[in-house]
This record gives sequence, C-alpha cells and structure tokens, in this order.
Amino acid sequence: MAIVDEGAFKAAAGSFASGVTVVTTKHEGKVHGMTVSAFASLSLDPMQIMVSLRTGSRLQGMIEESKIFGVSILREDQKAIASHFATRGLDLQDGVFPQFPSDEHVTGSPIFQDAIAYFDCNVFTAYECGDHILFVGDVLAAGSNEGQPLGYYKGNYRSITDLTGA
Ligand SMILES: Cc1cc2nc3c(=O)[nH]c(=O)nc-3n(C[C@H](O)[C@H](O)[C@H](O)COP(=O)(O)O)c2cc1C
Repeated sequence: MAIVDEGAFKAAAGSFASGVTVVTTKHEGKVHGMTVSAFASLSLDPMQIMVSLRTGSRLQGMIEESKIFGVSILREDQKAIASHFATRGLDLQDGVFPQFPSDEHVTGSPIFQDAIAYFDCNVFTAYECGDHILFVGDVLAAGSNEGQPLGYYKGNYRSITDLTGA
C-alpha cells in the first residue's frame, strides 16, 4: 500500500471547498454541538444524509446515546457560530445554547435560527471509518431559507461567489 504523507493528505482534503454546518444533539436535557464540514446528502428515497465525526469527540458519544441529530447549514454571517462550535472541550448546555438562538423541530436537536438550511434526523446507522464515525440519518424534517452560505476552503472561512454569466 502506498504511504501517503499526512501533510499531503490534509492539503488535498482541504482543497475541497465546502459549506459549514453545525451538528447538534440533545440528550437527557443537555445540548451540544460541533462544527462539521464532512456533511453530504445521501439518498432521496428514503431521505438520508450523513455526517462524519471524530471518534471520541463528545458529540459523537452523545449522538450514539441520543440517536438523534440536527444539521444547521450556516449563513455567511454566522462565522461566530462556526468558530464557537469548533472549540475543543465546550461545556454541555442545559436545554438551549444561551448565546445562539435555536429552535426545535421534530427530534429536539437544536437548529440555529437564520441557518440557510437544516435537517433534523434520527440515526439510521453508524459506521466506524478509521478515526471517525460516519452517522447516517433518516431525515424527519428539512428546510431552507434565502441567503448566502458560509464557505470553507484551505483552512479559511470564505464567501461563495455566483459565477453565473461570468
Ligand atoms: C470549518 C470546520 C470544519 C470541521 N469539520 C469537522 C468534521 O467534519 N468532523 C469533525 O469531526 N470535526 C470537524 N471539525 C473540528 C471540530 O469542530 C472540533 O474538533 C470540535 O468542535 C472539538 O470538539 P471536542 O471538544 O469534542 O473535541 C471542523 C472544524 C472546522 C473549523
């Protein structure tokens, strides 16, 4: 098997431009969230999405217990939410996140207000993939709003330009 340099792997993976999500869950009255770019829409029938979370992260353990998660796709002006939920060792919160307004839809996982889109899910299955766990969710509710998405590319937050007609 080819030995790939870790820096080369990270540089290649970071060259895939993505949006930014915050994945959340609620378990025994406590809420938690984590900034995640490893999100994909998987299936239309049944409607399923996936997120990939580092094994041993607090959120990964909580979702295994709660069996529910929410995904908020962030708007360009929600960089502060992304930065906050990318911080290691955040305390679990009681019920809601005090500084970032959110709503509950079906499962009770918090969904941030003004996110450009959201999915509210039950865990369908989870796969161990190396040092990450891939959660596949059955989508119980989804929605989208107007606005520009927050982007992420090569380690920096970006705005996404519309090149239609350029
Ligand atoms: C833009 C961005 C995208 C990220 N995407 C992921 C991801 O897809 N999966 C993941 O496990 N961590 C991702 N992270 C890192 C986590 O947000 C961060 O390690 C986590 O909040 C720390 O949680 P912990 O206290 O449980 O370790 C990302 C961070 C940033 C800034």
